[in-house]
Amino acid sequence: MKVFVTGKLSDKAAQALSNFAQVDAYESDQPMEPSEVEQRLEGKDALVCILGDRVDAELFKKRPQLKLVANVAVGYDNINVADANDAGVLITNTPGVLDNATADLAFALLLAAARRIVEADGFVRRGEWTGWKRELMLGAELNGKTLGIIGMGRIGKAVAKRARAFGLNLIYAREGSDKKTDDDLKKTFQAQRVDLNELCCTADFISVNCPLRADTRHLLGKSQFDIMQPHCVLVNTSRGAVIDEDALIQALEEKKIAGCGLDVFENEPQVPQRLIALDNVVLAPHIGSATKETRAAMDELAVKGLLEAFSGKLPTNAVNPDAWQKFSAKLKTTAST
Ligand code: DGY
Repeated sequence: MKVFVTGKLSDKAAQALSNFAQVDAYESDQPMEPSEVEQRLEGKDALVCILGDRVDAELFKKRPQLKLVANVAVGYDNINVADANDAGVLITNTPGVLDNATADLAFALLLAAARRIVEADGFVRRGEWTGWKRELMLGAELNGKTLGIIGMGRIGKAVAKRARAFGLNLIYAREGSDKKTDDDLKKTFQAQRVDLNELCCTADFISVNCPLRADTRHLLGKSQFDIMQPHCVLVNTSRGAVIDEDALIQALEEKKIAGCGLDVFENEPQVPQRLIALDNVVLAPHIGSATKETRAAMDELAVKGLLEAFSGKLPTNAVNPDAWQKFSAKLKTTAST
């Protein structure tokens, strides 16, 4: 089996992969051009990639021997799954192992924005601090306020767990209609389900934790910002395009909301200058899962799924199990040639 990896895997994952496969790995940590990925994929059975790598029909057409794409991320909006199904390419992701790291970052951003940590840090560094003052850098307290979580999957729940420890009341909006999930969320976190608009106009803080799909693109736009409370602080650790970035900037400029903490942006790595110019925002370079432990776990899960698939077992982290039959057929064909 020949595998191309668009970056450096952590030691344990790299070892596990090279025990079973001939591995070609991109040596730099700079993003790869799609044409380079395509070139390096020549003759490869599998691709291990990251969320900056675009994978779609164009690549599948040019590299028909490709059987599996292991995306080292839980979100897989960089991959066209319908195209993968057509091409019989199995896609895997890395769910479950990054929930805590991402929820920690959501809280770090929330606290930083609510308590003006970045502003305060700059103030001290610039030597502007002349002494304790009653009104200096007043922020918002979390205890007793309401956090609205948009998307109550694994990461949303990890955020909810932290929120309870901070004394926050919880409301959430999610897809799906099964009553048991809502009953469980009520029991575990005393969380109340509401619709998106009610969440927007009721919450003191909002955390965005839903995946980016066609139906969640620009889920938050002008009409949602218009009904948010002027003291609301918004945090996004999911995907930038879940929020209409222009509408968010306008809402921040017009003080329709108090501030925000963003780990993700619509056109990464570009961050609009208008956003950078605002002092009521805290910005991070998509580091939700960036802890040593989590990144190693993501790599290991990606490799585990890949090895399982090539040994004939449908991995539990397969995103498109529907492609399994075509994948298996391709595998057999390769084995017999
Ligand atoms: C993910 O896994 O989707 C994160 O955004 C990147 O780690």
